[in-house]
Amino acid sequence: MERAATASAPANIAFVKYWGARDVERGLPLNPSISMTLSVCRSVCTAEFHPGGSGDEVLLAGEDGPPRPAPRAFAAPVLVHLQRVARWAGAEGRFRVATRNTFPLSAGLASSASGFAALTLAAARAAGREPSPEELSDLARRSGSGSAARSAFGGFVEWPAGPAAGASPTARGSEAAVGDEGEGEGAETAVARRIASPEHWDLRDVIAIVDPGPKQVPSREAHRRVLTSPYFEPRLALLPGRLEEVRAAIADRDFGRLAPVLESEAVDLHFLAMSARPPIHYWTAGTVEVLGAVEALRAEGAPVGWTMDAGPNVHVICLPEAEEEVAGRLGALGAVRSVIRDRVGPGPRDDAEPLL
Ligand code: PMV
Repeated sequence: MERAATASAPANIAFVKYWGARDVERGLPLNPSISMTLSVCRSVCTAEFHPGGSGDEVLLAGEDGPPRPAPRAFAAPVLVHLQRVARWAGAEGRFRVATRNTFPLSAGLASSASGFAALTLAAARAAGREPSPEELSDLARRSGSGSAARSAFGGFVEWPAGPAAGASPTARGSEAAVGDEGEGEGAETAVARRIASPEHWDLRDVIAIVDPGPKQVPSREAHRRVLTSPYFEPRLALLPGRLEEVRAAIADRDFGRLAPVLESEAVDLHFLAMSARPPIHYWTAGTVEVLGAVEALRAEGAPVGWTMDAGPNVHVICLPEAEEEVAGRLGALGAVRSVIRDRVGPGPRDDAEPLL
């Protein structure tokens, strides 16, 4: 008997970044990270499971028309992950899945985090096993999109680095230790947890899209390459203080304390990328234009702080009273193709219309 399930999961924007992996294929980070779960930017996935069948099928659903077969590059990691979910659920059979984002694919907007969280949840349910949020977090990051671990929860989320964390990347004997991680019992876990609810602090995220196209270097490759930066170790040393600042800023709803750390983390993410060998340049002229506008808004007294992921687009985090002005000013810039107005939001949900 065929079973089907539909789930939606949110994207998230990191305040303290996951940047540099100790095992990129399994989504095991070298450092803890903290993020805000988004509300508007989400992925929806419908999974059908046909017990006993074989040959999984991956489809992309658009705004209109029936879902179409996904390009090979998109489908490949999804197919691997579906088999992992089937093993976890103890089921044998064939999946047919369709996914859809509410925001541009591969625009440096963590589409893989929400995508793999939604896929994992829908596929596990279709295969007959309901994951707890913790199980979803741990299973989703094994897709290789580590930040999917944080999309299992709403509000503000911390993802600890796990047992071998803090190991120097140059002295990583841990590589061998995690290299034999299986999918079953006893495998290493790296589970995120919610540190504050979405209701705790109404933060807004005005996302200035300067380039909706795919990013120049996928984050999977960047997680490896940034270890070659001479500034990788110095950033790791700064992280305990930054994590503490961000936890305290969230607990006290202290925007003045949050904004400087946000920005330092975003600068360092790109600084490590630019100083890697070979270098990765995600910034464009549009990025710089947006950052100039954010500085102008701040000089006028607006409560704003910016961050970025592995791409050229800028997330301007602000308090609700500044959102209208920020969105208007950024939207009027020549370099900005579109603006997404997002906010802190809940975790995975079950209310999406089925895609199949
Ligand atoms: O989740 P991944 O493996 O695609 O890595 C992306 C990590 C960043 O988005 C660049 C930073 C973060 O912590 O979300």
